[in-house]
Amino acid sequence: MNLHPPYPSMPFMEAFTPLLRLFKGMTRKGPGSETSTLRALSLCPLPANPAIADLGCGSGASALLLARTLQPLQTPILALDADGTALDDLRESSQAQGLLPMVKPCTGDMANPDTPPGSLDLLWSEGAIAHLGLAVGLHIWRDLLRPGGVLAFTDATWFEDSPPPEARRAWGAWYPTMGTEEANLRTAQGAGLDVLGHFRLPRQDWWDYFDQAEARCRQCDWEESLAEAIAGVRGEMDLYRRTGYSYGYVFYILQKA
Ligand SMILES: C[S@@+](CC[C@H](N)C(=O)[O-])C[C@H]1O[C@@H](n2cnc3c(N)ncnc32)[C@H](O)[C@@H]1O
Repeated sequence: MNLHPPYPSMPFMEAFTPLLRLFKGMTRKGPGSETSTLRALSLCPLPANPAIADLGCGSGASALLLARTLQPLQTPILALDADGTALDDLRESSQAQGLLPMVKPCTGDMANPDTPPGSLDLLWSEGAIAHLGLAVGLHIWRDLLRPGGVLAFTDATWFEDSPPPEARRAWGAWYPTMGTEEANLRTAQGAGLDVLGHFRLPRQDWWDYFDQAEARCRQCDWEESLAEAIAGVRGEMDLYRRTGYSYGYVFYILQKA
């Protein structure tokens, strides 16, 4: 399966393609872990037959874990991403783990998913909301929730008001609207979402992501068309080693008021 044609919310899709190729086969395409996903899930109140979607699911580490953990509820999980190649990996993993009936991979735009407003009990998303921007993402995703529905997502977040200049420069280019925890929680409350909980992902979640990313960089070192993407990812790792104390991923668990 090829990438879906660029969506309005992904005008940069072409520039993004080398990174998606570089990250092909990685089970997680950003910091995260089973422990963090399960910790967040334990903070989510769910009804008996919840309607669930994982938006920007990549190759579906979280969607598979949600499906496995919530198997007794026999609830299908919509797993949506713009990257059809990652969804191919998800389809294979779901089949191998006997979860295919529960995981529904779907190519689409998380800014405009084919999900009726007010229909979801749980909207999950790890490492993807930055592509929309937090305020825009919260606004769009809140509308998809039923009253009382829960939104659980991770987002890159400043841990300091005055981070080191090199971190500020790099993240200023990658994610200009990146906020602190306090600012993000205020944004969430302003969007009509109550805060059920939030926690910082452990640094080990980053090292695990970097281990997979570095393995892929080594595999693809010979591919000239990926040279820029590889240098970018290695730069991201170097930056984190030096200044990662000043930023990180935070899991936010919010409820539609
Ligand atoms: C950092 S990756 C995280 C993937 C996955 N959640 C994980 O943690 O491994 C961000 C994902 O968001 C997807 N994405 C970005 N913008 C999107 C959009 N507008 N619609 C659907 N998916 C999008 C990318 O294709 C990518 O798979």
